[in-house]
Amino acid sequence: MSHTDPGNARPLLRATDLQKSFGEHQVLKSIDLLIGKGQVLALIGPSGSGKTTVLRCLNGLEIPDGGEVAFDGGPAVAFAPGTTQKQAQVLRTRSAMVFQNYNLFPHMTVLENVIEGPLQVQRRKRAEVIAEAESLLARVGLAEKRDQYPHQLSGGQQQRVGIVRALALKPSLLLFDEPTSALDPELVGDVLRVIKELADEGWTMVLVTHELAFAREVADEIVFMDQGVVVERGHPEVVLRTPQNERTKQFVHRLLNPF
Ligand SMILES: Nc1ncnc2c1ncn2[C@@H]1O[C@H](COP(=O)(O)OP(=O)(O)OP(=O)(O)O)[C@@H](O)[C@H]1O
Ligand SMILES: [Mg+2]
Repeated sequence: MSHTDPGNARPLLRATDLQKSFGEHQVLKSIDLLIGKGQVLALIGPSGSGKTTVLRCLNGLEIPDGGEVAFDGGPAVAFAPGTTQKQAQVLRTRSAMVFQNYNLFPHMTVLENVIEGPLQVQRRKRAEVIAEAESLLARVGLAEKRDQYPHQLSGGQQQRVGIVRALALKPSLLLFDEPTSALDPELVGDVLRVIKELADEGWTMVLVTHELAFAREVADEIVFMDQGVVVERGHPEVVLRTPQNERTKQFVHRLLNPF
């Protein structure tokens, strides 16, 4: 375990005062996040607290009503009512998302799923993209699955394809939304092992997870959200072992002692 102090790493992403409502329901109230290069931030919190919405806002899949997102200390994308997808487009080029339910295209083979983004969105050279995709698939133990369809794979294998698909985009930031929560328990380990290797390699990531033991192992910082606000944040050992806020205490206790 090598936790680094979030204060010391060069910032890769800074999100300030993110706000998002769906109709009358304010789902994100004023979210600030600072992620250093090479750091892993684990985002935890009860169902409905806004975790997925945060990831979607960072990725430009959702347009916040207010706030700013900046990468590498570069110019911030500032949001206001009326901000368009086009204005947030730059965010889509910086991060890649790994979804809870894999979201693979069912009518495409494993390889086609992986090369789709680099070819269609990034307009990169086909031969180069295929070579990279094959090497990434080999890395996660799926070289021989390249011509199979998602339905022919186990959930754990599909999720490893989901991770390869994100890596193939060469993003600066990986966003994982409960990547193992749809998996049978015996398949969880294979996926967590891949995520741990990526963290050890220095990938910067935001990981939404209910696997607290894993979060303690890989994260440099844990952020606990409830009802659209960050309630508590800090070093994993501190947030998980000696949480300060009553809501954090209850949440962590419930997850660690489910019965
Ligand atoms: N597109 C949408 N339209 C309306 N409401 C939405 C939409 N997306 C999310 N919400 C609402 O926003 C709130 C936060 O949702 P979000 O998915 O971010 O929570 P979460 O923390 O990821 O929960 P979970 O742990 O169950 O995945 C929920 O009340 C949800 O119903
Ligand atoms: Mg969610």
